[in-house]
Amino acid sequence: MPISYFEKTKTFKLDSKTSSYIIKIYDEGYILNLYYGATIPDSYVPAREKRPTNASFSLANPVIGENGFTPDTAPMEYGCNGAADFRISALEVRNRNGDGVTDVRYTGYKIYSGKPQIPGLPSSYANDVSEAETLELYAEDKVTGLEITLFYTVFSEYGVITRHVRAHNGSDKNLEIERIYSCCVDYPTSELDMISLCGRYSRERNVERHPLVPGIQEISSKRGASGHVRNPFVAFASKNADEEHGDVYGFNLVYSGNFSAAAECDLNRTTRFIMGIDPTDFGWLLEPGADFCTPEVVMVYTDNGVGEMSRIFHRFYNNNLIRGRYKTEKRPLLINSWEAAFFDFDDDKLVDFAKEAKKLGIEMLVMDDGWFGKRINDRSSLGDWSVNEDRLHGGLSSLIERINAEGMKFGIWYEPEMISPDSELYRAHPDYAVRVKGREPMIGRHQYVLDFSRGDVRENIKKQMYDVIANNKIDYIKWDFNRNISDAASAQLPPERQKEFFHRFVLGTYEFMDWLTTTFQGILLETCSGGGGRFDPAMLAYSPQIWASDNTDAIERLAIQFGTSLCYPASAVGAHVSAAKRTGIQTRGNVAMWGTFGYELDPRKLTEDEKNAVREQVREYHENYDLIRNGDLYRLVSPFENRYRAIWEIVSADKTRAMLTIVTKLFENGEYLILKLRGLDERKMYKNSLTGDVCSGALLMKAGVNLSGVANWDGSSKVIYFDEV
Ligand code: DGJ
Repeated sequence: MPISYFEKTKTFKLDSKTSSYIIKIYDEGYILNLYYGATIPDSYVPAREKRPTNASFSLANPVIGENGFTPDTAPMEYGCNGAADFRISALEVRNRNGDGVTDVRYTGYKIYSGKPQIPGLPSSYANDVSEAETLELYAEDKVTGLEITLFYTVFSEYGVITRHVRAHNGSDKNLEIERIYSCCVDYPTSELDMISLCGRYSRERNVERHPLVPGIQEISSKRGASGHVRNPFVAFASKNADEEHGDVYGFNLVYSGNFSAAAECDLNRTTRFIMGIDPTDFGWLLEPGADFCTPEVVMVYTDNGVGEMSRIFHRFYNNNLIRGRYKTEKRPLLINSWEAAFFDFDDDKLVDFAKEAKKLGIEMLVMDDGWFGKRINDRSSLGDWSVNEDRLHGGLSSLIERINAEGMKFGIWYEPEMISPDSELYRAHPDYAVRVKGREPMIGRHQYVLDFSRGDVRENIKKQMYDVIANNKIDYIKWDFNRNISDAASAQLPPERQKEFFHRFVLGTYEFMDWLTTTFQGILLETCSGGGGRFDPAMLAYSPQIWASDNTDAIERLAIQFGTSLCYPASAVGAHVSAAKRTGIQTRGNVAMWGTFGYELDPRKLTEDEKNAVREQVREYHENYDLIRNGDLYRLVSPFENRYRAIWEIVSADKTRAMLTIVTKLFENGEYLILKLRGLDERKMYKNSLTGDVCSGALLMKAGVNLSGVANWDGSSKVIYFDEV
């Protein structure tokens, strides 16, 4: 049983393959977090229960007395605001008297097989009930009537625990939630490094690692979306942890809106970590009898380093988060019109692209931005989702028929959450745009954001999209999102609910994506946000792949894809070969191969040599499709740590094949380079596709392979296969 309750010690123990997690019910119903780390057989950790009491005028619970327990330093399982726990709090609810003191104490529990879904929010799932077990811990604030349920689901085979929280108003007066995080974890140390993914447009998810220091360190988004700048992912690693060794705790929030992930190192050099919806500009009016659910946090612990943490996330997301037809079915190999033509295309040009691409073995043409309303640049028509027949002569059906006649599938671009001021929709419904009464809203890429918190606004766009999609043979949709949200307010919310806007917007987007993917189950959805500005696990619940970045330069992509791989599987990482010419087409292909793989260039402009290279890449794509999507990733040389190269290895689950990719950023002449492989079977014999040598897995991992002189010029690359013989 992954979850057990021990009456004698009043402890709950959550066991997974890689971790144990122990919660204690203390005197007066305080819920304490005694342990999270490597698996242990014990059900109680006496050393963790009490902490120094004289922190700084630390206060005591009057019933327990001043006997050593103080909320100021206790390892609280879900630290609340205002009742003598002075650290960053996970929960603050303003009550009928107007104060924000929140003090929830244990009232009971339930343990059951399987995993509940979270109403209105995407989350991971159990494929069958035996795969997961769930603990619900109940707590109540007796003074205010606030009831809290802490949910924990253990996926024991993966080493994953998921958490979320439900608040219920059990009183007869309104309560106002001011902050409600999805998890709180209390470490008995601050000797940890914090790893996060930071960047900007075109340089998403670069890895940052730094030691925790006293005080609060936070990553967050206040942009209305998870954003390019910070990803809702954090890991804490022991000082000595590297790719293969050491304690690592990974946290990923299944949410696409404003988030916060904050660690506070306190005066005892312990650390509290909380992750959830960002409390800035957030609030929720909880009427009597109403519930509020937080998004889910996926937690991974391993003592086998950052690499193993990533592999656990990858397996879990491939099997328990991504869903629908294309979770398992092979996805078509696509060419996208954006970098090939930008806004400059018509039906004939697209058919020419399809004809040329087909000859190279590509399977689907995606028509990107510019096919609707009167859009010829980014200044108009978002919200007017009917085909521009001046551009696509004969309409969409005729274009699709012509593309299909070339033997190609067809995909289309949308940006459903946006509206151009120059659009029929805006002229008819200016109130559909997100704005604050009396202020001129900010503008970005000449567009406003549609108020997706409103059902009527979503219905309008759904109807328009339905008319196009239901009447045409569409195999793929790219869902884009090209600005952040400012002037956050909704014309339909009363003043006391305006603080709900950001979260309601995200819920609206999820409701829409749910509708789209259940109404059109055959369609492959790829999400995007000016490249990778909304690359988060919640999107993966609707779209099995996400465009990773508008930066398609193979060398810059190394950092983006290495960072992304910290928690997201290659099956999800939208990666294309473009015409970005800093490297040759082989290197562009070898880097894009570590992702969904596709093309984003004008196929008519390729030289004969390049066309042959593309044919070879298409062959390799098919040959390695399963290996790349379902294999185990080993990051051997990181572009963040090595100025000369990046190297990664993907090993099939049965360890019969490994694919090693070496990309040289800067060639170092005469360098002697021996590299030890990882993840092979020591007893199997493998043939090196470059040298023909046959060696044992043990040799390849312990003595290594000689890569001296391989990929020996700036921007060159090499893929070497190791197949069992
Ligand atoms: C931003 C995306 O990242 C691009 O791939 C492209 O779809 C453009 N938007 C179109 O406007």
